[in-house]
Amino acid sequence: MVPWGALNHLYKGLATIVIALIALQYLFGSVLENRRTTDTAESLIAQYNRYRNHNISKPRFYQGAPISIEKTNNNSILISTILNYNKSQATNNNSSNLTQFNENPSAIPNCPIVSPDLEGPIQVNKTISKINELEAQFGSWLQPGGAYAPTNCVSQSVVAVIVPYRDRAENLLLFLAHMHPFLKKQQLDYAIYIIEQDGTGPFNRAMLMNVGFTEALKHRQYQCFIFHDVDLLPEDDRNLYNCPEQPRHMSVAVDIFKYRLPYQTLFGGVCALTRDQFISVNGFSNMFWGWGGEDDDMSNRVIYHNYHISRYPVNIARYTMLTHHKQKANPKRYETLVEGKKRYSQDGLNSLKYTLKQTKFNLLYTWVLVELHAPS
Ligand SMILES: *[C@@H]1O[C@H](CO)[C@@H](O)[C@H](O)[C@H]1NC(C)=O
Ligand SMILES: *[C@@H]1O[C@H](CO)[C@@H](O)[C@H](O)[C@H]1NC(C)=O
Ligand SMILES: *[C@@H]1O[C@H](CO)[C@@H](O)[C@H](O)[C@H]1NC(C)=O
Ligand SMILES: *[C@@H]1O[C@H](CO)[C@@H](O)[C@H](O)[C@H]1NC(C)=O
Ligand SMILES: *[C@@H]1O[C@H](CO)[C@@H](O)[C@H](O)[C@H]1NC(C)=O
Ligand SMILES: *[C@@H]1O[C@H](CO)[C@@H](O)[C@H](O)[C@H]1NC(C)=O
Ligand SMILES: *[C@@H]1O[C@H](CO)[C@@H](O)[C@H](O)[C@H]1NC(C)=O
Repeated sequence: MVPWGALNHLYKGLATIVIALIALQYLFGSVLENRRTTDTAESLIAQYNRYRNHNISKPRFYQGAPISIEKTNNNSILISTILNYNKSQATNNNSSNLTQFNENPSAIPNCPIVSPDLEGPIQVNKTISKINELEAQFGSWLQPGGAYAPTNCVSQSVVAVIVPYRDRAENLLLFLAHMHPFLKKQQLDYAIYIIEQDGTGPFNRAMLMNVGFTEALKHRQYQCFIFHDVDLLPEDDRNLYNCPEQPRHMSVAVDIFKYRLPYQTLFGGVCALTRDQFISVNGFSNMFWGWGGEDDDMSNRVIYHNYHISRYPVNIARYTMLTHHKQKANPKRYETLVEGKKRYSQDGLNSLKYTLKQTKFNLLYTWVLVELHAPS
């Protein structure tokens, strides 16, 4: 005879299990449902492992959003997707154009740090192509957002190229035409961000850099940031667009300065910082409205935080500067610069104020339109 007490316990146990199962199903259901907005790299790895180990259906991020696969140093793999990716905003959303999911990522070798495809000095072609001509030219390998990753190896650098922009359409076309093949040849896993300042107020290059950094990290865990003026084109593909141990000033030798570095602490034009370095210097200052000063302030920030500025030799770090109308110089730039040190901890990423007006994943670049607000 079964004792009633034991049976009672059994029922209670079963009920608990059923409730737990329902809760689990609910939990997983909601995790998948909210995937677009709540995913972290960790949860993507978890989803991927579940897919690999238990032969469940392919994770949904495979279906449409651009993804990339990176190997981590502990031999696991990291799948990234463009979070918050909105397919209907992409001009080229044909998913057969997107990087294909590799069924056996452990079989993909790492790319070498220095790509075998490099040539050295390269031509800067100043013939302007139309945007649709460039799209046709690069469409077979670019992903929406102006992104690319090598398909036969796993890149060691996940790079966001951040370009502050307003009203330089011809420069932008030459920039895109030059940079995409250049970055591809270096076997980088990269995307180009064009950060456009809305309105006609004074241009704030540095603040747009901060916006680009902040917005790009909403899409992907970039490890390396290249802050790049739209009017500078590299002349040698050995000038690697990755992030070394120390912040790197890249536009060392510019044609209009007779390929000489004007002064030792120069940090303007093009520079590279890791995500962590940029956070530790609190990004650029937001206080420089109009031309000049913000790059020297950044140079001071870098040195103040015990980094040193690294550079390639002048025969490699060569750039062509495109012509354009000069912007109005900021008359207060020297004052703002001299007072800079007092502000590093309060003025920068942590005081950034802007209104995001639009993000669009064009084939050739991610376009971010912002309205900047002076910090209070
Ligand atoms: C995984 O599941 C699919 C159907 O969903 C099936 O066709 C396939 O054979 C399964 N693979 C393994 C290794 O069990
Ligand atoms: C491997 O590294 C990734 C991040 O680099 C981490 O999320 C993951 O937990 C690590 N896995 C193991 C097994 O240590
Ligand atoms: C995606 O973009 C379209 C068009 O811009 C917009 O109507 C839609 O609300 C967006 N969807 C999400 C989830 O943001
Ligand atoms: C693809 O993008 C276009 C806009 O360029 C949009 O009209 C279309 O609905 C999108 N298609 C899908 C499947 O999202
Ligand atoms: C997407 O591209 C593939 C390969 O080029 C093509 O076969 C297919 O028709 C395209 N689909 C759409 C909706 O454009
Ligand atoms: C420069 O670019 C134009 C347009 O893409 C092309 O027609 C021309 O052949 C290029 N010139 C050289 C020297 O590569
Ligand atoms: C990728 O997209 C471009 C532009 O829409 C198109 O011309 C090209 O045929 C596509 N390539 C593939 C492989 O789908």
